Amino acid sequence: MASPYAANGNAAMLSATGLTKRYRSGVATLTVLEGLNLEIRRGETLAIVGESGAGKSTLLHLLGGLDEPSAGTVRCLGADLYAMNESARARHRNRTMGFVWQQHALLPEFSAEENAAMPLLVAGVSRGEAIERARARLRDVGLSARASHRPGELSGGEQQRVSLARALAAGPLILLADEPTGNLDPDTASGVMDLIFELHGGHGLTSVIVTHNLEFAERCDRVLKLKTGSADERAGVHRPAGREVSGR
Ligand SMILES: Nc1ncnc2c1ncn2[C@@H]1O[C@H](COP(=O)(O)OP(=O)(O)OP(=O)(O)O)[C@@H](O)[C@H]1O
Ligand SMILES: [Mg+2]
Repeated sequence: MASPYAANGNAAMLSATGLTKRYRSGVATLTVLEGLNLEIRRGETLAIVGESGAGKSTLLHLLGGLDEPSAGTVRCLGADLYAMNESARARHRNRTMGFVWQQHALLPEFSAEENAAMPLLVAGVSRGEAIERARARLRDVGLSARASHRPGELSGGEQQRVSLARALAAGPLILLADEPTGNLDPDTASGVMDLIFELHGGHGLTSVIVTHNLEFAERCDRVLKLKTGSADERAGVHRPAGREVSGR
């Protein structure tokens, strides 16, 4: 079968067209994203910033194929994510994307290397090979010496490093991170931030990072600022004031 990526050339790695997300609750509608257009190029680092509730996580989940838009499309390497059924989307996601969350979401009863190997084990890779590849990623994040430790025996920064190793275990092209340094003290955050840029370059990634950390955002190639609109209580509709993408 021809590679689904072959025809992509220099096109966008990830793109959104007319992306809209609304939540309905009774008669009220909350419009979180409306008609957002975005193109993320191969090798780019994009920061998504904006106040709490502006829709940053919503957008990241939509870009990652983890939610359903109310309208609009998301394309990953040219493939329309929401035209696929859920299992095809999950396969596409597992082949192309790695995720890091604010809460590390590591499994407490497994060691660092088992946690890092988890995406490979889920994908059906043999245990021996999965552990070997996980160890290589733990080396990349400077945690070889902690491979057999459980998450509860690791510091917050180390737990995020394991999360990064897990995100990269299956060799993704795209890294999606939602406030990866949000729970860390400034020095530890700075170390994790440096590591993300190092991994981004070293693994040839395209990275989308939701962050409240302005230093982190400024180090990215581009910053997308989401704004929260004002509620229109008469109509029960909450509209965003507009979206801007600023380049650097
Ligand atoms: N499942 C849901 N049902 C209804 N409303 C939701 C749902 N998920 C999110 N929202 C609302 O959508 C808006 C955007 O949420 P989102 O989590 O994307 O914000 P955010 O920018 O990531 O905020 P934060 O910086 O606090 O993480 C919020 O007003 C939130 O309450
Ligand atoms: Mg959020």
